Amino acid sequence: MVRKQVGPGFAQIAARYRNDPEAPARLADKLRDGSVGAWGRVIMPRQPHMSLDESRRLAQWVLSQPSPP
Ligand code: HEM
Repeated sequence: MVRKQVGPGFAQIAARYRNDPEAPARLADKLRDGSVGAWGRVIMPRQPHMSLDESRRLAQWVLSQPSPP
């Protein structure tokens, strides 16, 4: 997703955290725990069934997206 629909697009997330060395670990935790307040007042639901390994790989993938056009 390039543009915002519900929550930020993956490219927007990658652009925001491009130079944040702690982003991969923090976002991996947030994928499992859910998130609110980083982008607005809408919550991102938690996904507790995901393994830590899976959420780490997913966070890496989101952060690897090229910047929005
Ligand atoms: C493969 C599925 C998804 C992935 C990998 C994903 C990933 C992310 C990431 C990495 C963030 C950034 C959190 C931060 O900046 O700290 C985020 C935020 C957000 N996501 Fe998702 N997301 C997914 C699905 C969804 C779904 C299904 C929804 C809504 C039903 C959603 C709604 C949101 C919202 C509202 C935010 C902003 C939360 C805030 O302000 O803190 N996401 N998402």
